Amino acid sequence: MIKKCLFPAAGYGTRFLPATKAMPKEMLPILTKPLIQYGVEEAMDAGCDVMAIITGRGKRAITDHFDISYELEHQIQGSSKEKMLADIRHIIDKCTFTYTRQNEMKGLGDAIYKGSALLSELDPFAVILADDLCVNPDGDGILGQMVKLYEKYKCCIVACMEVPQDEVHKYGVIEGNEIEDGVFMVSNMVEKPDNDKAPSNLAVIGRYILTPDIFDIIKNTKPGKNGELQITDALCTQAKKGMVMAYKFKGKRFDCGSVDGFVEATNYFYNLEKNQK
Ligand code: G1P
Repeated sequence: MIKKCLFPAAGYGTRFLPATKAMPKEMLPILTKPLIQYGVEEAMDAGCDVMAIITGRGKRAITDHFDISYELEHQIQGSSKEKMLADIRHIIDKCTFTYTRQNEMKGLGDAIYKGSALLSELDPFAVILADDLCVNPDGDGILGQMVKLYEKYKCCIVACMEVPQDEVHKYGVIEGNEIEDGVFMVSNMVEKPDNDKAPSNLAVIGRYILTPDIFDIIKNTKPGKNGELQITDALCTQAKKGMVMAYKFKGKRFDCGSVDGFVEATNYFYNLEKNQK
């Protein structure tokens, strides 16, 4: 039912300079796979087959990554390296990739609004922030879990997790009532509050299921934190109508937008691979 997944990928990735000077941060690899490919695989596992990517200047490597490279495939045909392209080839065969650009960095709400051109006006859609690398070794991926919840509640769903109180200022934070195990009906949301003013320590993580009425709401939302159009503020309008659920997902999340989280993810996947051998 949720077929399209939006990937806001226009940001500069300044925390990884100089690596991200000429290369999109979404293409930084965890072992041999770029971050954004992990996100695309999670979206496929959740049932999506259209990947709508919001790019910007200097992001062409993303478009090329999700396209066939005949020359390269010809070069390695019949060699032991051929299998290294099998996964990405599978993705390219199964999915359609669409792109549009966010010309100015005006916030996540603006990036998602730009994505409306790639989506249907009638259908709910998913959003993945590739910086947040999520895994669940014990079952469905995080987006897959959220799709199941959407089928039950038919409203916007955000992924959330508990974070230490002194880190809440890095996140969108929710306030809500737990209506079933790990599911909160959200009543309020605040983007990057001061640590001592946050309504809770339940932080929004980069996975969303949004209903298409969000676009009209974004259009009528004023710039918020840091002068940017925040998806958190648009969702807060929905939350006041009881139309947003927050879901404490099962699994693990790495903040690959930070060097520490990136190294942690690298170690995790390295050990996973080593143990499989
Ligand atoms: C964005 C959102 C924030 C959310 C976070 C999750 O912030 O604005 O609400 O908690 O992603 O990673 P960013 O990390 O892009 O500043």
